[in-house]
Amino acid sequence: MDHFLYRDGILHAEDVPLPQIAAEVGTPFYVYSCATLTRHYQLFEEALSGLDHLVCFAVKSNSNQAVLAHLAGLGAGMDVVSGGEYLRAKAAGVPGERIVFSGVGKTADEMRLALEGGIRQFNVESEPELETLSAVATSLGRVAPITIRVNPDVDARTHEKIATGKSENKFGIPIAHAREVYARAAALPGIEVIGIDVHIGSQLTELEPFEIAYTKVAELTRALRADGHDIRRLDLGGGLGIPYERSNTAPPLPLDYGDVIRRTVGDLDVEVEIEPGRLISGNAGLLVAGVIYVKKGDGRDFLILDAAMNDLVRPAMYGAWHDIVPVIEPLPGVEQAPYDIVGPVCETGDTFAKQRPMPPVAAGDLVAFRSAGAYGAVMASEYNTRPLIPEILVKEDQFAVIRARPSFDEIINRDSVPPWV
Ligand code: LLP
Repeated sequence: MDHFLYRDGILHAEDVPLPQIAAEVGTPFYVYSCATLTRHYQLFEEALSGLDHLVCFAVKSNSNQAVLAHLAGLGAGMDVVSGGEYLRAKAAGVPGERIVFSGVGKTADEMRLALEGGIRQFNVESEPELETLSAVATSLGRVAPITIRVNPDVDARTHEKIATGKSENKFGIPIAHAREVYARAAALPGIEVIGIDVHIGSQLTELEPFEIAYTKVAELTRALRADGHDIRRLDLGGGLGIPYERSNTAPPLPLDYGDVIRRTVGDLDVEVEIEPGRLISGNAGLLVAGVIYVKKGDGRDFLILDAAMNDLVRPAMYGAWHDIVPVIEPLPGVEQAPYDIVGPVCETGDTFAKQRPMPPVAAGDLVAFRSAGAYGAVMASEYNTRPLIPEILVKEDQFAVIRARPSFDEIINRDSVPPWV
């Protein structure tokens, strides 16, 4: 459920009609709903109630500081994967004790930043990283709390580009070698082993892979405790999927996911962390675009939008589906016709949908891409020198621009031409 509904035939974000935002900021733009962010965050809080837990929002899915500040205000921690994300979370007011640092290639500079600014834990992904962290922490006279990310070799049954828990993926250390690596970690100065981390992929639409992975983590917890490690925290990653195609998908509910966690690790007397991104931010955002032209092709018609693959890359990159709806509600029973829905970028990959049934649409109309709050704005680029599009946050009847559209001057002045050219 989200808070983007038609009222009197006009699509609203909470109490704000989308055409009003379009008139003030122009199209295209992203718009996020506070109420939907809250609701999805609370679903995880309910799912883990009774367990000692922290829900750490995956900042990579939507890193606007207003979104982070809203979630932090609800009690969320943050999962970051770069020095930049760490600084954004801090700038949004999140205390270091609520920030976990994930990622397969943390640099010494990033480690220093986090150790100096405060960090809940590093999720370490390799032995060389462990050694670098030990050296950095020792040089600062600090102790780095760590989990080690294990790769459980589980098929997450998701898109191959976002599956992370198979042995051929670059993530984590093979679970079969975990005990040796934990022994090595325990012997290093500046390192305090506190737990285990696992994340098997994103947009999972079944619970079974989680169950298999978490069962392996529970077994490992017992084995590591027997080896003398004080395993007191399990970071179980993110990955629960959302219904991109509402008419025919229904991924598992957070409550049922919570039951999997209870069943697998609930009796271990550990603090549980999860790192959901998409399920919190995905359906809390729309991309709103204008129709530039309706073009008649050879045997097919094209809707040419003012949004393109540089604004929302998921369809071009993963072949991902996004529901696309008109902002003015079609009359009941109106006949639909198939369109190829495309952007203005000069490559054929700039296609959002092929032969998508749509009600009659004309140039100047507004359309909205659903489920665009996660991995939308954060993956945008300025390809074709198209400015990054604004982000808007709505709360009830108020809205604010939380990232402004840059001017062409700002973009162009970022380049510099050396005198010898
Ligand atoms: N934790 C770690 C270590 C991750 O790598 C990820 C996502 C998450 C948590 C959050 O996963 P979520 O709950 O959002 O599924 N750009 C792709 C998704 C990439 C996901 C990368 N890692 C997309 O647009 O589908």
